[in-house]
Amino acid sequence: MKNIVVLVSGGGTNLQALIDAERSGIIKGGKITCVISSKEGAYALERAKKSDIPIRVIPRREFPDSLSYSRAILKALDEEKADLVVLAGFMTILDECVTREYAYKIINVHPALIPSFCGEGFYGLKVHEAALGYGVKVSGATIHFVNEKADAGAIILQGTVDVLPDDTPETLQRRIMENVEWKLLPKAVSLFCQDKIRIRDGKAYAEE
Ligand code: GAR
Repeated sequence: MKNIVVLVSGGGTNLQALIDAERSGIIKGGKITCVISSKEGAYALERAKKSDIPIRVIPRREFPDSLSYSRAILKALDEEKADLVVLAGFMTILDECVTREYAYKIINVHPALIPSFCGEGFYGLKVHEAALGYGVKVSGATIHFVNEKADAGAIILQGTVDVLPDDTPETLQRRIMENVEWKLLPKAVSLFCQDKIRIRDGKAYAEE
């Protein structure tokens, strides 16, 4: 069984999708052993507590810079013996001291079709505002490995939804979460835990 450590900052609907998928047997070969939040009071922590998953809070605001914060996260991941780290609505970019140590062991969910609307500054509703501002007709979400560049690691899975003429950032966000994020994130985690993701030439290939 692989130890899955989930990093969160907010509401935690993706964490909930992972918890539900684990309970219903969709995630094979792994168990969520710890949830770490970058914010005190994040609702994601309540979700973890309700499911009896151990929590840790490492507040970003208590650290002067990304490096010192990332070192604290690295220490926690090592202590938790993490085999897989999942960034599920985690709103802090991790320094390469973490991404190197956990190369191809950190998975992120990004709410757009990478390489569009991604990188520093593109997170949460801002991503959907940008997509609507551009006028794209489809959007979606990307599950990818995390490397030293924001949203630039190997893509594992992507899924799309139509953008509707009267969409707001909120309605588009919700459609992408329901139809793509909450399904593909657990699927990617299960593939990882069963050693069904291969890396070739820096690209990820999932065995279905
Ligand atoms: C999700 O839409 C996730 O894709 C996005 O934030 C939301 C978190 O929701 N993540 C990012 O923008 C990271 N760059 P949740 O807390 O309910 O899972």
